[in-house]
Amino acid sequence: MKTNKGAYRFVIFTKTKVYKFATFHYVWGVLKNIPRMIKNGDSKFIIKELLWGFRGFGRGIAENKSEFSCWKRTRSPLLVPTYFGCGIVNVQKRQYGTTPTHEELQKLFAKLPPQTQFDLHLVESHCLEPGNFMQTKDGMVFVDYDDGTSPTAKQHPFTVFIEKWHRELKNTFIPRIS
Ligand SMILES: Nc1ncnc2c1ncn2[C@@H]1O[C@H](COP(=O)(O)OP(=O)(O)O)[C@@H](O)[C@H]1O
Ligand SMILES: [Mg+2]
Repeated sequence: MKTNKGAYRFVIFTKTKVYKFATFHYVWGVLKNIPRMIKNGDSKFIIKELLWGFRGFGRGIAENKSEFSCWKRTRSPLLVPTYFGCGIVNVQKRQYGTTPTHEELQKLFAKLPPQTQFDLHLVESHCLEPGNFMQTKDGMVFVDYDDGTSPTAKQHPFTVFIEKWHRELKNTFIPRIS
């Protein structure tokens, strides 16, 4: 079975769908280190480290929630549909295509109107990673469109960016179906 470990989510692929689980891997990473921390006399940090690990899990949940809410608000053809979301897991259509290179994306972004490009650079940089896009026969679509969880993300949510510049993004990313 194909899987992929994102920053805060663990993705399982079936033929037609992907399942994005908020991941426990940060918690697991801390648990594995506990014997070493005790040996080094760092046991006073265990609780702090565990809380940090659980925060990673919380971020996965927050990403799943904002991704599902972005889909429900926009239903945009720029986004791969999210069929179901409950925080712990999002179920999305499996999109086939190729992941663009950084250069290909930059060339595409450069075709957007100047004000759209300006706002694009205000959203959290995580949203613009090549792994979050897929080049398909219809054009470029987003497979990962959560708002992110940083202070930047709260100030400039990705969903708001998509809503504000929907027409311009469609004309540039998926011109054939605009
Ligand atoms: N709907 C999808 N169809 C096909 N591949 C996907 C889909 N969603 C995610 N992926 C692949 O899984 C990787 C990790 O998923 P992503 O949603 O980006 O998780 P994270 O938020 O943890 O970065 C992506 O970079 C992409 O390659
Ligand atoms: Mg991603």
